[in-house]
Amino acid sequence: MTTTTAPHAAAPLATTPLGLKDIPAAGGIPVIGQTLNFLFRPLSSGLDMHQRLGPIVRGNAFGLDSLALSGPDAIEMVLRNSDQAFSSHQGWAFFIEKFFYRGLMLLDFDEHKFHRGILQTAFKKPALSDYLQRMQPVIKQGLTRWQKKARGNQFLMYPELKRLTLDIATEVFMGEPLGKAADKINEAFVDCVKAGTAIVRYPIPGGRWQRGLRGRATLEAFFRSRIAAKRREPGSDLFSRLCIAEDEQGNRFTDDDVVNHMIFLLMAAHDTSTITLTSMIYQLGKHPDWQRRLRDEALTLGKASLVHDDLGQLPQMELVLKESLRLLSPVHVLPRKTVKPVDFAGYRIPANTYIVISPIVSHHLPQYWTAPEQFDPERFSPERREHKQHAYQYLPFVVKRLEHKSPGVRVWAINVLSLFGMPAQEAQREICLDRATLTEWGFNVRNFAYPFAEGSAKDSEFRIAAVA
Ligand code: HEM
Repeated sequence: MTTTTAPHAAAPLATTPLGLKDIPAAGGIPVIGQTLNFLFRPLSSGLDMHQRLGPIVRGNAFGLDSLALSGPDAIEMVLRNSDQAFSSHQGWAFFIEKFFYRGLMLLDFDEHKFHRGILQTAFKKPALSDYLQRMQPVIKQGLTRWQKKARGNQFLMYPELKRLTLDIATEVFMGEPLGKAADKINEAFVDCVKAGTAIVRYPIPGGRWQRGLRGRATLEAFFRSRIAAKRREPGSDLFSRLCIAEDEQGNRFTDDDVVNHMIFLLMAAHDTSTITLTSMIYQLGKHPDWQRRLRDEALTLGKASLVHDDLGQLPQMELVLKESLRLLSPVHVLPRKTVKPVDFAGYRIPANTYIVISPIVSHHLPQYWTAPEQFDPERFSPERREHKQHAYQYLPFVVKRLEHKSPGVRVWAINVLSLFGMPAQEAQREICLDRATLTEWGFNVRNFAYPFAEGSAKDSEFRIAAVA
């Protein structure tokens, strides 16, 4: 059994742990519970619960009774998982298993370790360098499109970045040429992603759930039809690498494994990166001083195209990236299910209990961060190191499960910034905001805050403009 006590726990002193019914309850509207908070106000509602009720709170979302565990101590216990009490598979299954079946996050314990051992060979430095090379022409193409669009006009940032990241996934992940066929695959993938948070979780004709199931079938057929060729003549794309990946013992993926991992990786990489980039650009729009610092840094590096080692030469950009991820972590809740009893903060959590942990709440706790709501990239500087007070206070990625070594986000960020760094040949481009009242996330929450949420382009309030 795992036992942890949080120093700031609200639980009464007790020698025997208290039971589920003693855990403070979040309340909420009958049936709906915290579903709407979870979807639309994950940060403010999570912070409020943590501060009012403590690090462990009983609630209900999407019809499931669950416990919200918050704060770095809770996250440490769950992610260290030293007693193998928390199942990632059983936590995520409810949301995404139908569409992202047997992706890495839907595997546990020994099986997870086995698959990760093979998968991570596709993320070693030579592979990352290749992805970086493949990415750059696609990014340049995207930026040229933006330049044309921006001439005297404004355009919506989030949908443009979404298109760009999908194009990159087509090139880098699948090794397919851009065009109509790739667009169909991307559509199927987007349908799978949206289905994960369908409120009606049943295949009603024309509904999200049914579109997701159809999307999954399309993706499976697409990847399966290409595996033999990729195994015969592998390229430098991620799909090829998974087809030939081998761990140190010589184990390889079956065809089914390759299909399942590819579909999952598309999802894991895509919305997370789109949101991070949108968030960075938004912050730079709000903070022109930082925009200038990054532009100067990129110009000092002075490269038309980048190699892997250049990524370490942009410390200012690293700070902005970290701070953007702190303020808005794309994966803001991580679900788990207990497979054995666990004690935490004076309470006993039985086996088969759904729990959610929220890294984003830890990213905003005033006991760890100075003025946590403010954009202050220098908090991550070597002089201040605010993020180093607790090993689990800052976790936009969960490196304990798979090292996120993909340079993707950093490369995209650099390229996007180079758009604004261009000298005033035709127009001095700037990131500017045209919204008077910002939501807690800085964007229209429905469109943006939750990666899987539906959003229409006109809802997005964040635009980019060319200023003559
Ligand atoms: C800014 C971008 C990204 C963020 C913020 C992010 C965040 C996360 C988080 C928080 C998890 C853990 C979920 C959990 O344990 O419940 C996760 C898992 C994962 N992510 Fe990312 N991710 C990003 C980009 C990527 C990219 C580019 C890839 C691959 C190319 C990727 C592949 C994965 C995989 C395979 C997992 C499952 C790991 C495992 O269970 O061992 N992610 N990601």
